Amino acid sequence: MNNNRDISVNDERAEAALAFEKCFSVPPQWLAVSPGKVNVIGEHIDYCDGFVLPLAIDRYVTIAFALNGTSQANLVSGQFPDDAVTMMLDEEQKPSPPAWANYVRGVLEGFRQRDFWPLPGFDAYIYSSIPMSAGLSSSAAIEVAVATMIEGLLGIKIDPVRKEKLCQRAEQTFTGMPCGIMDQTSCIFSKKDHLLLIDCLTKETADIAFDSKKVSVVIADSKIQRRLSEGNYANRRKQTDIALSALNKKSWRDVSDQDLEIFRDAMSEVVFRRARHVVGEIRRTQLAAKHIANGEFDKVGELMRESHLSLRDDFQVSCKELDILVEAAWEMGPEAGVIGSRMVGGGFGGSTVSLVESSKVGEFIKKLKDNYRIQTNIEPEVFQTSAVAGARLLEV
Ligand code: GLA
Repeated sequence: MNNNRDISVNDERAEAALAFEKCFSVPPQWLAVSPGKVNVIGEHIDYCDGFVLPLAIDRYVTIAFALNGTSQANLVSGQFPDDAVTMMLDEEQKPSPPAWANYVRGVLEGFRQRDFWPLPGFDAYIYSSIPMSAGLSSSAAIEVAVATMIEGLLGIKIDPVRKEKLCQRAEQTFTGMPCGIMDQTSCIFSKKDHLLLIDCLTKETADIAFDSKKVSVVIADSKIQRRLSEGNYANRRKQTDIALSALNKKSWRDVSDQDLEIFRDAMSEVVFRRARHVVGEIRRTQLAAKHIANGEFDKVGELMRESHLSLRDDFQVSCKELDILVEAAWEMGPEAGVIGSRMVGGGFGGSTVSLVESSKVGEFIKKLKDNYRIQTNIEPEVFQTSAVAGARLLEV
């Protein structure tokens, strides 16, 4: 995996094509590309009918592929080059080792079950520049790139909402991670130079213009890897379900602050805190979207701070290293161009996102790295990103 942004998108594509040719001795016919994503605000509420506000980032999964005239798929992952896989396309796909291939198998099976079949045999090389387990949707990007590849192989384009659900289902059933819909939606629907406001109840999306000449998005990967399929994430989901039934409501969108107080005694203290996070985070995300659309960034910073504190104290999905990163950013403050900072993704490790005035971003990155290294002895990966467009298919 390449972690330096001294490689351009075009270089990444060339590298994927070259690696394909090395493995299969012919050039690829197409490239299926999906970006990763980072979420500005709206955490752990995509599975609670909430709003989320991500952007697709300039880190990609690129799949170079070509028809091979057989009824099987031969796949190589650049991240696990010793674990090449062959899949028989006339059979039902089931989860099996190696783990990386289950993202592919799950999506193939989704298409098979929906009668988009038979699929012609193909060879594929998967190249990724999205750090794994860093809260930047490396899994969703593989799923979406695979779905885009299958559309290319079949010469069809499926309804994008159907595509995102198919990818989400693949992750849930083939990797055991009961994810929400945010990651796959961002990988598919994002527009260049825009944030994507997703209403996770209606599945409607709205593009919010984002001027990166003024404000930059900085991602800091703590290098602490989360393992969400091991139960923490599922446990939080379960607790929000318990809270919603205690609140006697069908949807979180119908829950007010007043309801929280009225039904407080119907919940354990822990479940009440989870509920308080959900209600507050839905409100914060709607407000943040409005402020960003109006260019009122000073108000966004405070909402990001509240979001982090709520994830840390009420939802309890942060960790020491993420807190160090956000606190270091907060301490640098407005003089250093810092607008806001918070943890992102499922938590327990992974990354933070900071919004920083573009003129001060270089110095911010340097200071954040130094600060984190001194406090933890860990070298973080800190990089500026830009809002890019969602997945696409390219002919070579
Ligand atoms: C993971 C999941 C998403 C979302 C986030 C938390 O990344 O895949 O669906 O729930 O956690 O906001």
